[in-house]
Amino acid sequence: MTPRIIATGSALPERIVTNDDLSRKMDTSDEWIRTRTGIRERRISEDDGKEKLLKLSVRAAEAAIAMAEADGAFSREEIGLVLVATCTPDMAFPAMACRLQDALSLPQVAAFDLSLACSGFLAALDTASAYIESGRCRTALVVGGDVMSRMLNWDDRNTAVLFGDGAGAVILSADERFIAACTGGNTAEEKSADEKAADAFRPRFALHSDGGGEAALYCKAMYFNENEPESEHMDGRKVFEFAVRKVPEVIGEVLRLAGTDAEDISLFVLHQANYRIIEAVAKRLKRPIEKFPHNIERCGNTTAGSMPILLDELNREGKLRRGDVLCLSGFGAGLSYGAAVLRW
Ligand code: UT7
Repeated sequence: MTPRIIATGSALPERIVTNDDLSRKMDTSDEWIRTRTGIRERRISEDDGKEKLLKLSVRAAEAAIAMAEADGAFSREEIGLVLVATCTPDMAFPAMACRLQDALSLPQVAAFDLSLACSGFLAALDTASAYIESGRCRTALVVGGDVMSRMLNWDDRNTAVLFGDGAGAVILSADERFIAACTGGNTAEEKSADEKAADAFRPRFALHSDGGGEAALYCKAMYFNENEPESEHMDGRKVFEFAVRKVPEVIGEVLRLAGTDAEDISLFVLHQANYRIIEAVAKRLKRPIEKFPHNIERCGNTTAGSMPILLDELNREGKLRRGDVLCLSGFGAGLSYGAAVLRW
C-alpha cells in the first residue's frame, strides 16, 4: 500500500515572545538573533501546568482530522496508528500518543511516542509509512511537537533565544487511487505499469545517527522534578557545521533512492533551526533559495514540530499541489539526521 499525506494541522501557543522581549531579560539583541539565526519572534506556551504539549497536539491533530473530513469520506475511526514525536512529553508515561488517543476519542489501536529530538518527526513519518506499506494499518495520525520552553535555561543566551513551542500533525493514508491502479490491470504488462506507478509514489526515507554526538546536544533529564529542572546544553557551532555537511549528503542519498534529482523537487521542507543553515544547504544543492520555504522568523526552532508545522502552513496557503515532489530533511540530537522524498 502506498502511503500519502492526506491532511495536515498545526498549533502554536498564543503568546509571542520577540527578540526585544528577550533582550530585556538577557544579554542579547534583536540584531544578533536576527543576523545569526533569522529568528524575529517565537511562540511560548503560557505556564498552565503539565498539559502544554497535550493541548498543542490535540489542536494540531483536530485541525488535521477536520481537513481530512472536509476533503472526503474520512472518519477518525479509520485511524489505525497514533505516533507522537517529541522530546518534551508532558509526563514520563503514559506516552503522549496514548493520552492524545484518549483526548481525541480514537479507536484502541497502537499508540506510542518516538524520541529523536529535531529528527523525531521524520522518524515517526518513516515508521508510519512502514506500517502502511506493510499492511499493518491503512491510516496513521503522526504528530510532531515540543515545548522546549520547559527545558530551556532562560539565563543561557546560547540556547534560550533559539527555540519556540509548537506542534504539527499529518494524516498519512494508503492511497486508494494507487491501490486501485495496482490491482486494476489484468495483463502482465498492465500489472507491471501499475506497480511502477505505485512505486513512483512511494515515499523514500534515509535516516542516520552518528551516535557519538552526545556532547554537542543533550539534556540529561526531563523536567519531571520541577524543582530541579535540567536544561538543554548545546555546542551550537558543532551542530551548525554538522547540519551543513550532513543535510545535503542525506538529501543526496534519498534523492538517489527515489530515483530523482534536486531539480525535480518542488520544495525542500527543512527542519527550521537556523536560516543560515537553510541558505547553506540551498547553496550546496545548487537550488534557488525560493525552493526552501521557512517560518523560522516567526516560530524559532520548534524541534519535532518544525517540519509538520511548516508543511501545514504551506498546505493551507495553497503552496502544495497534488503530485508535487517534496523533500523533507531534519537533524538534531544524536547527532541524528535524515531526509525523505514524498509526492504530495
Ligand atoms: O535543531 C538542532 C539544534 N540546534 C541547532 O541547530 C543550532 C545550530 N547552531 C546555530 O544555529 C548557531 O551555531 C548559533 C545560532 C547557535 C550560534 O551562531 P554562531 O555564528 O555559530 O555563533 P558562535 O557560537 O560562534 O558565537 C559567537 C558569539 C560568542 O561570543 P564570543 O565568544 O565570540 O565573544 C557567543 O557568546 O556570540 C555570542 N552569543 C550571543 N551573543 C548575543 C551566543 N549567543 C548569543 C546571543 N546574543 N543570544
